[in-house]
Amino acid sequence: MENTSAIKRIGVLTSGGDAPGMNAAVRAVVRAGIYYGLEVYGIKNGYTGLLAGEIEPMTLRSVSEILSRGGTVLHTSRCPEFRTPEGRERAAAIARVFKLDAIIIIGGDGSFAGAKLLSELGVPVIGIPATIDNDIGCTEYTIGFDTALNTVKDAIDKIKDTTYSHERCSIIQVMGRQAGYIALNAAIANGAEICLIPEKPYDVNTDVIQPILAGRSRGKTHFIIVVAEGACSCEDLAAQIKQTIGVTPAVSILGYIQRGGSPTVRDRVIAAQMSVHAVECLVKGEVNRIIAYKGDRVVSIDLEEAMTQTKSIDPHALLTSEILSL
Ligand code: ADP
Ligand code: F6P
Repeated sequence: MENTSAIKRIGVLTSGGDAPGMNAAVRAVVRAGIYYGLEVYGIKNGYTGLLAGEIEPMTLRSVSEILSRGGTVLHTSRCPEFRTPEGRERAAAIARVFKLDAIIIIGGDGSFAGAKLLSELGVPVIGIPATIDNDIGCTEYTIGFDTALNTVKDAIDKIKDTTYSHERCSIIQVMGRQAGYIALNAAIANGAEICLIPEKPYDVNTDVIQPILAGRSRGKTHFIIVVAEGACSCEDLAAQIKQTIGVTPAVSILGYIQRGGSPTVRDRVIAAQMSVHAVECLVKGEVNRIIAYKGDRVVSIDLEEAMTQTKSIDPHALLTSEILSL
């Protein structure tokens, strides 16, 4: 493919919460960019580095040996200044000073909201979805989700061993902000008895206490309850269980372990495919788009349209989790 567009020099940044596979994406953007004859500049620390002009040329070798590493070698940030019109005006001016014809933004929906506003100031952008939460409406998959889920799976397997041995009830909190994708998939993968997610209102008596009592009457001796961080407080839930049935649940909050680690094959491959697709869009002169995964294919969607798209938890996945917890 020949570069027929006016885009000759691009920037790339990672923004928001880091996700395993961000490095695989940065590497693929740099290598694909150079392959197609572009100059590629790395912007440090997300929008904070753009505002600080922390922008440096990247070479084929500057992305050697990063594919298997978690985190992001470009670093990342949450940037309050970029949320202000003045901050974004300054960011757009800096992009022009560095003669960046377009910026590839690797991050979550917050980063894309910022990207859209930046594009409205005349800076062409492309978004690559990367967040462990898998909560971006326009794409079925976000880079980092599979690695985080595998980390959660390993942790719950271990907690399950001790829960079984002591015939306990364990409550495990997983990340996901206001989304329950990590929790629900972990509940299925780890055979949890109960799963609470923000998308499905619950009643402690009907959805927690009664299933525990019914499980006991069927001979269950231990219980795993997976709670999405946006669903409820694990401490409050533990107190309610103790008060009602006299059992003191053990609470584990998995926390930041979920964001680290070497990316899985799925995250490496999807990061590579999405990033090459992003560069190819630019080479064709297609800007202001979000790269998405739909029906096993990598596609690109108009940024404005992408921001209006929503997705929801598959009710049959919820049912599957319930059926298998019997
Ligand atoms: P993520 O991209 O992982 O969802 P955040 O929501 O923290 O993470 O967003 C990353 C950064 O994107 C924020 O720190 C901010 O600089 C920028 N951003 C987020 N939302 C907006 C918004 N509505 N307007 C402008 N900038 C935003
Ligand atoms: O979006 C990724 C995520 O890890 C969420 O699951 C979590 O709620 C949030 O980021 C935590 O953010 P911070 O790094 O600001 O504590």
